[in-house]
Amino acid sequence: MSSPLARSNRHALKDAVVRLHQKASHHHRIDTLADLLSDTIDRSHPGDDQLKCLDIGCGDMTLAESVGERLPRSDWSCIDIHPLAPDLVDDPRWAKYQQFDGCKIDAPDRHFEASLFCDVMHHIPGDLVANLKEAARVSQTVVIKDHFEYSLYSRSMLQLMDIVGNWGYDISIPKRYFSRTRFAQLAEACGLEIADLNIGIELYRHNAVFHRVLRPKLQFIAVLRHAS
Ligand SMILES: C[S@@+](CC[C@H](N)C(=O)[O-])C[C@H]1O[C@@H](n2cnc3c(N)ncnc32)[C@H](O)[C@@H]1O
Repeated sequence: MSSPLARSNRHALKDAVVRLHQKASHHHRIDTLADLLSDTIDRSHPGDDQLKCLDIGCGDMTLAESVGERLPRSDWSCIDIHPLAPDLVDDPRWAKYQQFDGCKIDAPDRHFEASLFCDVMHHIPGDLVANLKEAARVSQTVVIKDHFEYSLYSRSMLQLMDIVGNWGYDISIPKRYFSRTRFAQLAEACGLEIADLNIGIELYRHNAVFHRVLRPKLQFIAVLRHAS
């Protein structure tokens, strides 16, 4: 889950954590999520020949690219809060990337068919209403992959996973995660309805330890649409 900036100031221990995490889960996570997200976006937009999509909090862009490979009618733009590392500025792969301020998106109303927050919302401090409203302003649907917590135990397990998965990339660890109620309230506060909610995503079948503590019900994918 690296970011374009993250490589610039890591030290040896963080590099080791990054390698451990990539070995344990990163590639499998990307493949599993790309399968699910491409299918979700495909089903949510049956009538559109071409889909302009925006990955908000894109990290290293691997996920957007993997979804794009599986769903060729989708064309991805990617934004994140970090400036591009100097050695990537002229790299054609990064032409679809733009830094933004973490909230305001430089695009006209409903410019995109779909925007995506994948494991991003729980890293954003505050009530998230402004972030979600802004994504909804620029797109017809907002797809969110995130976590539900059910107890102190599940919150602690998710925090542990976030430390392993993100500490090496200098990403802050959340104090709490969505409950079902809090997520529904957020959608309503933004004038959105939950059109699809897939709870129970198996991301860690390949890893005995992660599989034991990170139950599928902690992971969800939701599709939000403008309420009619
Ligand atoms: C766990 S990574 C997920 C990266 C990618 N979406 C994925 O699933 O592989 C979280 C990302 O959220 C980004 N982020 C943090 N605050 C953000 C904000 N306010 N708006 C958008 N992205 C943000 C971080 O820079 C980081 O790249």
